[in-house]
Amino acid sequence: MDRKKNCVSIAIDGPSASGKSTVAKLLASKLNYLYVDTGAMYRAYTLAVIKAGLDPKNEEASNSLIGKIEISFNENNKITLNGEDVSKEIRDNDVANNVSYIASYKNIRLFLVSLQQKIADNKNIVMDGRDIGTYVLKDAEVKIFLNADVEERARRRFIENKENGFETSYEACLENIKKRDYIDSHRDFCPLRQAEDAILLDSTKLSIDEVVEKMEEIIRSKGF
Ligand code: CDP
Repeated sequence: MDRKKNCVSIAIDGPSASGKSTVAKLLASKLNYLYVDTGAMYRAYTLAVIKAGLDPKNEEASNSLIGKIEISFNENNKITLNGEDVSKEIRDNDVANNVSYIASYKNIRLFLVSLQQKIADNKNIVMDGRDIGTYVLKDAEVKIFLNADVEERARRRFIENKENGFETSYEACLENIKKRDYIDSHRDFCPLRQAEDAILLDSTKLSIDEVVEKMEEIIRSKGF
């Protein structure tokens, strides 16, 4: 099947709180492309496991929801779980603390990756995550790996949580990010890593607008 026809895929990967979602969303709106936040899908699955009273650390129990729950995006591009907008709930500490276990289970990844590939089919798309350039959209025209120092990422997450009304300390953010970085990059199936053909962008000292500009430069340099 010719998945792409004349469509352009932009894959943005990187560790937690590197700013992927914020810049990917802005970039997609500038380009008039569809934006897909794959992290939100892993978070929604995690929320479903917690709501069902299952233990996210138990792979077999967590797998039992595969095919039984519906994870999607509504007309406002908000993540939905069984039709309900859960975009706020998925940012909860409980979800953040458990999502990397869920994301390490191969069968759950296969379930969500197939949804992601269906969403991307035949569309101009900006998709962000951990394995987009290495697995989900391996043939993406543009691949960017966005990174930043871990302390800066923790600082950003702390501010973001505060703005969203989630009470956390800077230390707790730092710990959560370090733990997720470790689990995400050490899992067997589709670990977090830079694709060989991805361009590395370090956002530690850059503003959001500067990161978006750099990304636009990269996209232009690829002829799009
Ligand atoms: O917002 P933040 O950068 O903290 O994370 P996220 O993008 O919302 O993703 C949450 C978690 O989902 C990550 O820590 C990964 O464990 C997992 N994830 C993944 O494994 N693969 C993806 N393509 C996207 C997210």
